Amino acid sequence: MTPCNAELMGKFLRGLLEHFRLPSSHRSGLLCGFCLGNRPLGRMASRTSSAEDARAGLSVRTAAACSVFAAGLVLWAPASASQAAQPITTERSATKSTQSSNAQLADPKIDERVDRLLGQMTLEEKIGQLVQYNDTGDSPAAGGEQGSGDRNNQGVIVAINPVTANHINSQQLAATGRLGSMLNTIGAERTNMYQHLAVDKSRLHIPLLFGADVIHGFRTIYPVPLGLASSWDPQLVVDLSRMSAEEASTAGVRWFYSPMVDISRDPRWGRTTEGAGEDTYLGVAMARAYIQGYQGDDLSQPGHVAASIKHFAAYGAAEAGREYNTTDMSEITLKQIYLPPYKAAVEAGAATVMSAFNSLNGVPSSANPYLLRKTLRDDWGFNGFVVSDYTSIMELINHGIALDPATATLKAVMAGVDVDMMSHFYDTQLPGLIRSGQVPMSVVDEAVRGVLRVKFATGLFERPYANGPEVTAAVPAHRPLVRKAAEESLVLLQNENLAGGQPLLPLSAARKKIALIGPLADDAREMTGAWGGAGADHDVVTVRQALEERSKQLGGALVYAKGTEIESTSEAGFGAAVDAARDADVAIVALGEAGTMSGEAGSRAYLDLPGNQQQLLEAVVATGKPVVLLVFSGRPLVLDWAEKHVPAMIEAWFPGTEAGHAIANVLYGDVSPSGKLPMSFPRAVGQEPLYYNQFPTGRPATGIDLSQPPGGDTRFFSRYIDVPNNALFPFGYGLSYSNFAYGDVKVSKNSIDLKQALRAGTAPLVEATATVTNTGNRAATEVVQCYVRNLGASIEQPVRSLKGFERVTLAPGESRQVRFRLSFNELSFYNIDSVPTMEATRYTVWIGGSSLADQAATFNVVSSAAAR
Ligand code: BGC
Repeated sequence: MTPCNAELMGKFLRGLLEHFRLPSSHRSGLLCGFCLGNRPLGRMASRTSSAEDARAGLSVRTAAACSVFAAGLVLWAPASASQAAQPITTERSATKSTQSSNAQLADPKIDERVDRLLGQMTLEEKIGQLVQYNDTGDSPAAGGEQGSGDRNNQGVIVAINPVTANHINSQQLAATGRLGSMLNTIGAERTNMYQHLAVDKSRLHIPLLFGADVIHGFRTIYPVPLGLASSWDPQLVVDLSRMSAEEASTAGVRWFYSPMVDISRDPRWGRTTEGAGEDTYLGVAMARAYIQGYQGDDLSQPGHVAASIKHFAAYGAAEAGREYNTTDMSEITLKQIYLPPYKAAVEAGAATVMSAFNSLNGVPSSANPYLLRKTLRDDWGFNGFVVSDYTSIMELINHGIALDPATATLKAVMAGVDVDMMSHFYDTQLPGLIRSGQVPMSVVDEAVRGVLRVKFATGLFERPYANGPEVTAAVPAHRPLVRKAAEESLVLLQNENLAGGQPLLPLSAARKKIALIGPLADDAREMTGAWGGAGADHDVVTVRQALEERSKQLGGALVYAKGTEIESTSEAGFGAAVDAARDADVAIVALGEAGTMSGEAGSRAYLDLPGNQQQLLEAVVATGKPVVLLVFSGRPLVLDWAEKHVPAMIEAWFPGTEAGHAIANVLYGDVSPSGKLPMSFPRAVGQEPLYYNQFPTGRPATGIDLSQPPGGDTRFFSRYIDVPNNALFPFGYGLSYSNFAYGDVKVSKNSIDLKQALRAGTAPLVEATATVTNTGNRAATEVVQCYVRNLGASIEQPVRSLKGFERVTLAPGESRQVRFRLSFNELSFYNIDSVPTMEATRYTVWIGGSSLADQAATFNVVSSAAAR
């Protein structure tokens, strides 16, 4: 194995350790048997150890320098970016879909090939296609000691890692046709080795499908998906997704466990970082864009990969934001708020779907026929295959709906889970279930068909091996795009005028002496956040590196003082940080979370700055020097103190490989920030779940000063006694270095005939327009947003819902009319029978720069009788 591959494997093995929970006996001494001899690759951060320990244990990531490989390589160039968001289709009708979701998978030629192959397969080979494991190294995964938690009280293995607990030998399985796909096995050498076993040695030569968690970049890393959603730029997402597919396919990966399209309204849930946030309409646009980017129009093209929509369904509504927790919701909320992004991704042709860990209304998603058969296949016409989430079939036992592996398997396969990721249940249980007649052969055949269809459609039989030359480092030619993505993801939360009337940002060239403070200012690893692909730390440009470059160019001076760690109680570094600030013209303070504090198993009950970072911030602010706060986080944090005391603030999320350059470009004004929040930022954790499109109440606190404690006639309203109801920074909010004015908000009709509306299909029913003007003195981009409220319906409707958006770039003084076409898709709602409909109601439409847009127009939907 080349050093490049060693690093690549090291990164992903660490991923395995982090995300796939090898038992404790394997944490500290995992040896890479591939090429590194006995050098430990990494160790899992113990769940109880500090984040510092975790980082120290993972610091082998910088081992190899492989950038030569990628130097000068141009894999891909972005299509010309159309700024306008595509019209969004949500649920069209409740009737069954007669169409297959992916035309390529429905090709009769593929079906013929599938049938021919299926006809030759033994039961063992069929089941093999439904089995997925990770790389067990060059020998069977050592069982080691089983942790006490590995068996339940019936003696059934419910290990967090069944591969080791059961001594699985993936290589042997591949060579004998008993393995269909692999997860997080990457690197051309490793995947090709496995592929040769499958293709050369197994009886029917069926290639393996290699899937991986490439979530926001493979080698060249772009912002975490929540950051990317802040761009409100679906074309950018298409371009980035295509780029990462190109990169990863050179390492043998042909299937991404992405996009995560779970709507998340509660930032306590760490996985909010992996999705597009709280809004359905934005989530739909982003979901489509990812699929288009990964799969293109033709799955078989080199450099295209199959997508897996996850986690089906409603995982983002985990109660209290606690990971893997139950979800429970009305069918209307499910259909109106949570399902549309999955549906949009299915309609865009997603080849696979991942069934979620959570239960939904009492039925675990990985054994849920309502979700996996009725909704996905019958209603939406999905014709790809469903893979379980990691051990989620085994977890049906813990959910309490199966007492033994056979029942768990029966429930999962009959519900429509085709592939068993890591549970080691399908291979052990399906033969018996088929013999006993509990699982009909036709069910297994259908599942195998699904897998083979995807393998044929992706061209895996023709091109089973990695699509070389292998990309082993961030690709220089891809940096401009990921830099643009990082720039567009930054959200300017605050930018106050200082004495003299000028806002603090962009930084004036006169501020020559800069104090750069904080644990995130020079930490390459943390810039890539959760699921950082196979990115290498040494490829990342930190804020310190970029600002030092700048400062040199401008003839300034930069003093860096870390101040504290991300999670620390020591104030030993405070003195140097305060001294640096005192001596500077401006202090730039980079604070926030570690990447591992969000993502899977990253739930938090407190949403403030971790450790003693808040105290550090207060100490720096106390110097009286102007402070710019850069917040790095995988979720909205509580920034109420900062909002009151820090003049300039940027939410930076985790920006990726080009973090430093993007931030420097925005700080110095080369780029005006245009990001808008895809999630509401709370004032206090107790407000969660806090989202802008809430339902109205019978006692709205309209017109009451909620910053004051209630008294007398201000008490009996829907309010808190200790915090205002609203978000500190609302959904859709974000400042620019310019200013935009809205005017002339109009609708094309005052009334729409109900009958016609119900028959109109996707044709626009009404157009809403507004004029937006750049009133500032520099060119800048604004995300124009259109919100709708529907009053008078049989089911109460949200106080407002996003129904359109468009990125508009305007020169100083320039005006443009922006137009939103509202059709049944945008104006309908689910009625008491869970059917999308419209009624004779009144609509208000707002157009503006955030969910607080205040300029509106109204129209009515009238029944024919009234219209006459
Ligand atoms: C996560 C999925 C991921 C899978 C495979 C699971 O723990 O929930 O999002 O795709 O592991 O890595």
